[in-house]
Amino acid sequence: MGRNEKGDGGDRYRIDDYAVIGRTYAEYERTLDPSDVDLAGTRVLDCPGGARGFTAGAVARGADAYAVDSVYALSFPDLAARARADLDRAVDALDGVEHLYRWDYYDDPADLATHRRAALARLLAHRRAEPGRYVAGALPELPFPDDAVDLVCSAHLLFLYADRFDHAFHAAALRELCRIAREEVRVFPLHGFDGDRYDALDDLLLELERAGHDPAVESVPFEFQRGADAQLRVRV
Ligand SMILES: C[S@@+](CC[C@H](N)C(=O)[O-])C[C@H]1O[C@@H](n2cnc3c(N)ncnc32)[C@H](O)[C@@H]1O
Repeated sequence: MGRNEKGDGGDRYRIDDYAVIGRTYAEYERTLDPSDVDLAGTRVLDCPGGARGFTAGAVARGADAYAVDSVYALSFPDLAARARADLDRAVDALDGVEHLYRWDYYDDPADLATHRRAALARLLAHRRAEPGRYVAGALPELPFPDDAVDLVCSAHLLFLYADRFDHAFHAAALRELCRIAREEVRVFPLHGFDGDRYDALDDLLLELERAGHDPAVESVPFEFQRGADAQLRVRV
């Protein structure tokens, strides 16, 4: 279960496993800041798609959008049950560590839960309507050919779960996302649950440059976890 660890030497958001939760399309617009991208006619991949409403929102804006996530291997009822349970434990885990977050976009944990529920409802409705857009797969090896899409978006897995994924995983995952993207990869956030920016980010930027890509850290118009207001943009 998710829990905070105030009082036992920690003061941070804690969640076990990987929470299958998701953000709304409006949250995506702030965290990955695609204000310069005309989604109409653009091929987009969201990895991990989780329980978020991004793919439905992108398709509604004319994109040819897909989402990939290891959890899409679950049946429809099992995915819905897992996502609903994870949403509750993710919100519960905020108890006692609310001060680590800025409460301006969301009023409070209850309002955050309302956003998460809206994202989940959108995901479930869209997955039922267009199941072919939701693909089961796991980083660092995804079932997509080279240059399959124009833009890859990756939110709330890499860097955030750095306490579970080592540097080799991050490097391999980014190589994989760059292989699939024809133009660009965007990753948010750059911070872990401990509140610190990924400590080997400079090494990763160097590795991406050596592979012929053009990586940059850019600020975004969103900050929920304090300090986490930047994305990694890699022009491939
Ligand atoms: C916190 S959710 C993020 C969902 C969404 N991107 C968002 O920003 O709301 C993390 C997701 O990562 C997925 N996941 C965990 N390990 C994965 C892997 N190796 N490859 C792809 N997805 C993975 C989980 O199933 C979960 O849905």
